[in-house]
Amino acid sequence: MVGGSRPPFAPWRDGPPRFAVGLKPIAPQCWLLPDTEAHTLPERALLLRDSEATHFQDEAALPAAREATALAGKAMGLEEDPSRDARPLWQLAHKVSDDLVLMMPGAEGWRVGAAVLTSPTFFSLPHAAGKTLHELHAPVPGGNRLATRIARVFDHVRPDQVLERFNWTLQAGNDRYTPDGAPLQARAQAARPEEALSLVHVRVERQTITKLPETGAVLFTIRVCIDPVAALASKEKAALAAAWHGADIAARGYKKWAVLDHLVAAALPTP
Ligand code: HEM
Repeated sequence: MVGGSRPPFAPWRDGPPRFAVGLKPIAPQCWLLPDTEAHTLPERALLLRDSEATHFQDEAALPAAREATALAGKAMGLEEDPSRDARPLWQLAHKVSDDLVLMMPGAEGWRVGAAVLTSPTFFSLPHAAGKTLHELHAPVPGGNRLATRIARVFDHVRPDQVLERFNWTLQAGNDRYTPDGAPLQARAQAARPEEALSLVHVRVERQTITKLPETGAVLFTIRVCIDPVAALASKEKAALAAAWHGADIAARGYKKWAVLDHLVAAALPTP
C-alpha cells in the first residue's frame, strides 16, 4: 500500500498491464484491513437494496458462503455469526467495500457459486453467475491459458495464504457501478481535452484470493479504488504515463484505450 494517502495502490509503477496471473502472497492481517474504500459503503448499501441485481448464490454454495463470511468477519474484527444467514455474503457486503466472489470446485473446474458485485469493472452478475474460469476469461487476450493457470493456483493455494494482484485502467469519470463500459467510452469520446483534468480517473482493482479450509472453496475479493489523475503527484503522473504508453496493441485493444488518448495527452505528461 502507498502510505495512508490516495491513491492507496499504484500498480502502474510495475509497468504496462500484462495478462498474467501475477499473484503475490501478502500478510494475512492485510487481507481486508484497512478498508481504504470504506467511504463508499453508504453508496454500496443503496445498491445492495436491489439484491437481485447485486447478489447471486447457488443453493449448494451456502455452506461455503457462510464459511467465507465467518472468515472475513473474523479478519475484520466483526462479531458476526453467519451460521443461520440465508444471504451471508450479501450481509457482509454492508461492512466491507470489496466485491466478493465465491469460487466452487467441481468436476468441470472452478465456477462462480456466489457473488456480491457493486463495483463491477465492465461485467455483470448475470454474466458471471455460475460461469467457469475459462468462460469468464474467454474475452481476455490469452484467456484460455490464463484460466488454466488461475485454476492451478486455486487448486494449490493453502488455506493460511492470502494472495494479491492488481489490474488498472483509466476512465472518464468516477463511476463505480459499471456493469457495462460502453457509457464511459462514449463519454470519453465526446469529451474535449479541456475537460481532461476533471474527467480522467484511474481505476485500480485490488484482488485477493483465499482458500476456505472447510469447504475448499476460494473467496476472490475485488476492491475498486477510483482517484482523479489530477490529484496525483508529478512523479506518479510520469509513471502512469509511461505505463499507459508502454502498453502493447493487445492490451490497448482489450482495454479500449483509444477513446481516451486525447484526454490522456492533456492530463498526463508525455514520456
Ligand atoms: C486470481 C485469479 C484471477 C486472475 C489472475 C485473473 C486475471 C484476469 C485478467 C488478467 C483479466 C483481464 C483484465 C484486465 O487486465 O483488465 C481478467 C478479466 C476478468 N476476470 Fe479475472 N482473474 C482472476 C480471477 C477471476 C475470478 C475468480 C473471476 C470471477 C468473477 C474473474 C472474472 C473476470 C472477468 C469477468 C473479467 C473481464 C472479462 C471481460 O473482458 O469480459 N476473474 N481476469
